[in-house]
Amino acid sequence: MSFPITRHRRLRGTAGIRGMVRETILNTLDFIQPIFVTYGTGVKNEIGSMPGVYHFSLDMLKAEVDEIAALGIPAVLLFGIPETKDAIGSSGFADDGIVQEATRLIKQWYPELLVVADTCLCEFTDHGHCGMVHTHTVDGVVHGDVINDASLELLTRTAVSQAKAGADIIAPSNMMDGFVQAIRTGLDENGFEHVPIMSYSVKYASAFYGPFREAADSAPQFGNRKTYQMDPANLREAIREADSDVLEGADMLMVKPALAYLDVIRTIRDQFDLPLVAYNVSGEYSMVKAAALQGWIDEQAVVLEMLTGMKRAGADIIITYFAKDAARWLQG
Ligand code: PBG
Repeated sequence: MSFPITRHRRLRGTAGIRGMVRETILNTLDFIQPIFVTYGTGVKNEIGSMPGVYHFSLDMLKAEVDEIAALGIPAVLLFGIPETKDAIGSSGFADDGIVQEATRLIKQWYPELLVVADTCLCEFTDHGHCGMVHTHTVDGVVHGDVINDASLELLTRTAVSQAKAGADIIAPSNMMDGFVQAIRTGLDENGFEHVPIMSYSVKYASAFYGPFREAADSAPQFGNRKTYQMDPANLREAIREADSDVLEGADMLMVKPALAYLDVIRTIRDQFDLPLVAYNVSGEYSMVKAAALQGWIDEQAVVLEMLTGMKRAGADIIITYFAKDAARWLQG
């Protein structure tokens, strides 16, 4: 027994000493702020399940980006709500698509602000799946699945059009097999060999995406995403997914969601050397917001504790709808 020679409380006595021995420091430079851009004009609509998060039409976007840039947040992640959807998500890879137009504007306003483009089709397909589907109807009920390899072609076109518009980082979230290699090849063939891929390597089929699907109008119209997103029960499979992405040329890895998957973040950090991103997803945001609005928790303290936990678990970068708030709080 070393007590009372060892007294852990010695290093907790004052704010000064606690600060000196603190192991994990949040930094605004770690944050990526997601933005939802939509068609139309004059739109700044709050998303019902995500208080404080809005749909912006392009003419209303500048003030939001000004705020993000002024706070010193280094990057935004763009999601688009298109005016039209079809079976192959062609508004996702149109050169005048909503994400492409928003990217051009942001890069014009703030050349230094990094634009990360989410490369997926679920916001652009009429069936809400992340690729091309084949379906059949039994007794009026639609069944179907996403066709992997045909989807890769569409996703590659999407990534190339995003890079062409000026996206600094391509972040494919579709969970098709081979998507990193397909997109890497497509980018390289089109002169974008310098554009990094932030791969949603370890993406679970999670109920925590619920509010996002309202925000992005991307809920699957039949079935679910369990044939391509991972089973929340699996950890070893996360290593296999990350392994494939590394072999295929990913520049950064991601674990998503974050809060219920801190063990996965730690495991991937220990096994791989690439920069690691944690995605603090919509449902994690909404739960905290809802409790805060009820006055049941101290929002600032809870958010900073959660984000610190993600970083302590091993994340280098955090995608979070709280980025602006957290940046403000960190800057006092
Ligand atoms: C697109 C995509 C999703 C999210 C990010 N990209 C939704 C999904 O897979 O259904 C979720 C983000 C969030 O919940 O904040 N595939």
